[in-house]
Amino acid sequence: MGEAPAVGLILGSGLGVLADLLEGAVSIPYGEIPHFPVPTVEGHAGELVFGRVAGTPVVMMKGRFHLYEGHAEETVSFPVRVMQSLGIRTLVVTNAAGGVNEEYRVGDIMLLRDHINFMFRSPLIGPNPAELGVRFPDMSEAYSARLRQVAKAAAKNQGLQLREGVYLAVTGPNYETPAEIRMMRRLGADAVGMSTVPEVLAARHAGLEVIGFSCITNAASGIGEGPLSHEEVMEAAEQAKQTFLDLVMALIPQL
Ligand code: 6GU
Repeated sequence: MGEAPAVGLILGSGLGVLADLLEGAVSIPYGEIPHFPVPTVEGHAGELVFGRVAGTPVVMMKGRFHLYEGHAEETVSFPVRVMQSLGIRTLVVTNAAGGVNEEYRVGDIMLLRDHINFMFRSPLIGPNPAELGVRFPDMSEAYSARLRQVAKAAAKNQGLQLREGVYLAVTGPNYETPAEIRMMRRLGADAVGMSTVPEVLAARHAGLEVIGFSCITNAASGIGEGPLSHEEVMEAAEQAKQTFLDLVMALIPQL
């Protein structure tokens, strides 16, 4: 397999195809990795894929875990510990999210400046093995300011308008009520979704640099018209996929 990966990737809805773009890809099914969780919903069992992007060795999760599946926070973030042990220095996270900011449009890509943990639980609760990280990790710069600059430059290069905002994470699986979305907007959220925060908390505890992106797949409840559906979210993610992949691919060698 060669060199240890430098960058880890946890990609949201529809972006698993990035695995097919890796040079010299080698896949390990989750079931073959000790203690690795097994996805409950999707048809695919999930796998960890190793390969290179423009020469940079990476490891990516093909299939991620969510709290709404019934997994505990520390289960959702366990793959980050595996990638930490493999020696990554940087973690790239992406997700599909609803637009809470009324200026956002379907298909927009938002760089995460910060997050709000409305899951109200941390994967770091419990005994703290010192080799994993400090007991009380700092979150004043969860998403690296340096990497955000790199991402903005890469987006500009591609003529891509990049939003930058605050991601608010809930457990799901239900979408929000209009009253909840109004509350979230008043609290400073720009987008809402059901993933990412447990992994980022573990990654920061591990001392990794983190960069995150949301694909705005729909207007959140009370902004757009009609009910929200998973189909709408998947379709919008599919539409934005190429732009998203181009950005992530361009970024990796610069991280
Ligand atoms: Cl509107 N809410 C949540 N919680 N997750 C989403 C979403 C909305 N749109 C895509 N994912």
